This record gives sequence, C-alpha cells and structure tokens, in this order.
Amino acid sequence: MHVQGQAYAPAPEFVAQANVPGMESYADLYRRALESPERFWAELAAQQLHWFEPWKEVFRWNPPFAQWFVGGKLNAAYNCLDRHLGSNGDKIAFLWEGEPGEQRRITYRELHRQVCRFANLLKKLGYGTGDRAIIYMPMIPELPVAMLACARLGITHSVVFAGFSAEALKARIQDLGAPLVITADGGYRRAKEIRLKDATDEALRECPTVRHVIVYRRTGSPVNMQKGRDYWWHELEAGVEDECPAVPLDAEHPLFVLYTSGTTGRPKGILHTTGGYLLQVTLTMRWVFDIKPTDVYWCAADIGWVTGHSYIVYGPLSVGATSVLYEGAPDTPSWSRWWQIVERYRVTILYTSPTAIRTLLRQGDEWPQRHDLSSLRLLGSVGEPINPAAWEWYYRIIGKGRCPIVDTWWQTETGAIMISPMPGATPLKPGSATLPLPGVVADVVDQDGQPVPPGQEGFLVIRKPWPSMLRTIWGDPERYRQQYWERIPGVYFTGDAARRDEDGYFWILGRVDDVINVSGHRLSTMELESALVKHPLVAEAAVVGRPDELTGQAICAFVSLKGSGPWDYDQLAAELRDWVAREIGKFARPAEIRFVEALPKTRSGKIMRRLLREIVTAREVTGDVTTLEDFGVIQRLIR
Ligand code: PRX
Repeated sequence: MHVQGQAYAPAPEFVAQANVPGMESYADLYRRALESPERFWAELAAQQLHWFEPWKEVFRWNPPFAQWFVGGKLNAAYNCLDRHLGSNGDKIAFLWEGEPGEQRRITYRELHRQVCRFANLLKKLGYGTGDRAIIYMPMIPELPVAMLACARLGITHSVVFAGFSAEALKARIQDLGAPLVITADGGYRRAKEIRLKDATDEALRECPTVRHVIVYRRTGSPVNMQKGRDYWWHELEAGVEDECPAVPLDAEHPLFVLYTSGTTGRPKGILHTTGGYLLQVTLTMRWVFDIKPTDVYWCAADIGWVTGHSYIVYGPLSVGATSVLYEGAPDTPSWSRWWQIVERYRVTILYTSPTAIRTLLRQGDEWPQRHDLSSLRLLGSVGEPINPAAWEWYYRIIGKGRCPIVDTWWQTETGAIMISPMPGATPLKPGSATLPLPGVVADVVDQDGQPVPPGQEGFLVIRKPWPSMLRTIWGDPERYRQQYWERIPGVYFTGDAARRDEDGYFWILGRVDDVINVSGHRLSTMELESALVKHPLVAEAAVVGRPDELTGQAICAFVSLKGSGPWDYDQLAAELRDWVAREIGKFARPAEIRFVEALPKTRSGKIMRRLLREIVTAREVTGDVTTLEDFGVIQRLIR
C-alpha cells in the first residue's frame, strides 16, 4: 500500500520485533476478517481466551441486537488472573503509586488472592451471579480487585468515576437499581482528599435499593458508618478463604454497565458482555500496543472511564502484562511526576489523552528533560483528535523521535479500539487515527448512508457488528435502537464526523450530536442544561462547546434568569459554575456563563444551538435563521 503526503513509516527495528510486522501482515489480517468474519473471530477467540465450554454458534444477529459466541462459557476474572498463575504467578500485575508517594507491587498471585478474598466476602453478604454493584473508588489496587471479584462471581459492575458528584452517583445507582455500593473513605487528588464516603452518604438518601455499602479504608479520615448498611472492607474480609472458584458464565453474561453522556439529560448505561468484549480488548493489546512479556505498560487514564476499564483492567490483565497504576494528578508535587514514574518503573508504553499532552507541553520541556525516558518504545493517544503540534511534541520530546504514536479512535460503546495504527505496520500521519483494525468495517457516509468521496466530510459509521460492541442501553433497548442503528439505516452511527483522505486514512473531526468533548470527557449539553435549570434563579439554559486550545472544547452556557434583578453577574456566574460542579462533578464546571435576556428559538420553541455555536466560535451568524422567532435576540447575543 502506498501512502501519500507526510507520513512516518515504522522503523525497521520496530517492524522486526512487532506483533504485526509490516503492512502486508495488516492487510492480510484485514482481508481475512472481511472475507469470513465469523471464522476470523472464532479462531482468535479460541486462541486468545480460556473457555470452560465452547460456543455453539459464533454470531447471532437479531438486528440491532448481537450475540457472540452463543452458548460458550468463560469467566473474565479467570482469564485475567488464574490462567497466568502457572507460569507467571510471580510476575507483577500492578506497580501502584499513591499520590502521597506510597508504592505497592502486586503480583498476579497476590492479585488473584485478593480478588478471591473479596469475592468470598461478597458471597458472605449473599451476592452472586445476576446481582449488580456500583463501584465508586479512587485509583487504588482495590478498585480493580472489586471489579474482578464481581466478574468472578457474575455480578455486573458499574464503576462511577470518583470525580462525579453525589448527585451524579445517585442517578447512576437509581438507574442501575443496585443493592450494593463499594466505595472508600476517600482518595487523593492534588494533595486534597476526595471524600467519597460523604458523597455516597448524600447520594444514598434517595436510593432505596441499596442494602449494603462496603467501605475500603484508604485515607483513614473519619466517616459516618450507618449501622446495618455500611461495613468496613477489612472487617468483613477477616477470616475469609483465599480461594474462590471462578463461575463459568455465559459469553453474553453482562460484565459491566458504564454510564456515558448521550443527547438527552439522562446518562445512558452502556452494557458490555463477557466473551466478545474480552476478546477485542485482548487482541488490541497485542495489535495496537504490541504488548510483549517484558513491557511495562502505563495507561494514565482513570478506571472510571472506558479507557481504564479496557486498557488498565481487562486488556492488560488478560494478556498478563505489567501495568503502572497511579492514583493522582500529574502536577503533584510537581510537573515532574509523570516523568519520574516513567523513569522509576522503566515504562515502555505510555497511553494518554491529547489534553494531558497539551497540559504537559505547556509546562515546558525542562520537566521531561530532567528524567531518563529512554525506556519508552511506544506512545498512545485517545479521547479526542490530537492536533499536529501536540503530536510533534509527544513524538520528539517524549518519544525522542524513536517511538511510534498510536492515535486510537474508539468509544465507550465500541468497548475496544476500532481505528488505530498498528505500530509495526501503519505509516503514521499526525492527527489521523489512520486505518480500521481487522474486523472493523468503518466508513464515512452522508445522511442516507451513501459513502462520500475522499476529502469530503461525512458521518463516521461502522457497517458490521463486532464482538466488543455494546449490547444495549441498560433498561432502554428502544433508545439503543434509535440512537445507534436508526439514524442512518442499517449501520452503527458513531455520532462523530470524519473524512477519509486519498490513502483511506480516517481523520476524526468531532461530534455531530449534542455531546461535547472536554479534555477527552464526554458531556451532554442537555445534561448540563438540566443541571443549570435546577438552580432557582435560572429560567432557561443552553449549552454549547467552544473550541479551546487546551481542553479541545470548553463548556459555554447561555443562561436567562427569572425575575428582573438587579444581579451581581460575576457572583452569579461563579455560583452557577459551582452549582454544575455539585450536580455533575468538577470536571463539568462551565468555562463561561453568558447571561442573556432570551435564548434564540425556532417558531416551534426549539433552542437553536447551532446559532449559539456559531456565536461562540465565529461571533457572527451565517446560517439559515428564517425559522427564528426573534432575530433581535441574536443581535443582542452577539453583542
Ligand atoms: O468523538 C470521539 C472521541 O471521543 C468519543 C468517545 O468518547 P468516550 O465514549 O468517552 O470514549 C473516550 C475514550 C475511548 C468519540 O465519539 N474520540 C475518542 N478517541 C478519539 C476521538 N476523537 C478523535 N480521535 C481519537 N483518537
């Protein structure tokens, strides 16, 4: 395959050792997957995973509901732990560092023991296959322990990112109807304690389904324990056995629900099941991260997002890798922290987001230059488009021009990486996620599903179901059907715009729905708006994303107020920003609040967000405004 334009071909030394060496190997895999997808996936599933019982049917498609490896039995925790114990039991699974500086090295054998003990504890409380648990924890080893213990017993887990507020936690507990919450007293972030148990207590005032709360003691600060409901992890664990058999579960058994923002105010619970999910996270560890037994791999995401589920917990453990797990912020105690970690553990693969790269870039080259980063051999990026300047800095200053960068496109819904370079094969173009992985049939189409010519912008879609795809939206199959499979008939709609170039490379252009991407975190404009209108002074609110050099997009909220004032607008803006932080989480705090007399609406009363987007981006309105009710509103907004 010939690649035009400025491209970085993989170095011969990298190709020579790569799991997928050279473009012919990629092309061969891609062709095999395209020609007979079921055979392709079945062969890999047999090779990559441990099954208690083989499947009877590879794929069953009752559009848009997919089942993979029907009738097969396996266990995700068994695949992540037990199967490594024979030859790799003493290998390190996690190199953990707490923000205050503690270090722990946990071998596969030790992790297995801890998972078994916690699973036994859960059994003691009466939980087992078919139950559901919410996990709300800091980035400590006990978070993956809790997830894997659930997986071991067939308890479907839903991890809520520790940066979410009590309100957001409450909504997720209620939607899942969970009887069990696993949390900690707190965790550390920027040298401050995040008081998770306090937030849990607040959330639980309106969560009647919850019968038990298990609290891990991380910080040791005083917390309230409600008798008969709240239990200390260490107290319950006393006296439990070190062994707990992994339950053979159906390939389609629900492994986890992860809430993400959609186009309405209500977050949607994305459901992933066991076999197909585990297969694709395992394969992408090999294909995209080129993982080898000797690697020290570090995905610097948070386990509370899908990146952490797939590429801190299930993917790396399934291939028996050694991973770094870091609890805190990159600037604590100084901007050296990440580079110290790379140096200390001799990290070979680093995976992070463009916002993190831009943030680190801004601090200057002195920080990374003070440290020995020569162990690095591969870099990764995820969550948002990476701009060429950040790409170049990552490549030159961090990778010293030696390390390929894998720009990985995927979503909570896809479960695993879908479009990405294979580092020993694909020539790189800064800013492009390059080509779809084998088995992924991606396309760029117009509204009717017709492919658009190279260079033209269109909707990014996936034409064929894939094993790690979401199975449904928890409790709302109709919404699943409408949002993903009916927008463009017959194909999976990603919600992203993209174009392909002459070489077939994909360039992701960002969301086309009411989702904004701030620092690689997905936020729904409707969710932000409903948080704002809960404030007693707010009459109406409209939220749009505006371009931001650091965070990709920033939240800009237009707000009209009840009554006639007078108001102290600065104070009110600060209050509303805090209000949103309380309702959703600090990471959702708007960058800008603009007070307006009225919002621009169509005659039928719909807020015209497109106009607001144009105002925050270009400060002028060019599109069609004939359906607007009061053009004067626009004039006043621009001013
Ligand atoms: O818009 C795309 C963007 O992030 C969205 C998915 O967000 P989430 O489900 O939170 O998962 C993030 C981590 C997988 C996508 O619809 N996105 C993700 N990766 C990239 C990206 N945009 C451009 N380039 C990427 N590599």
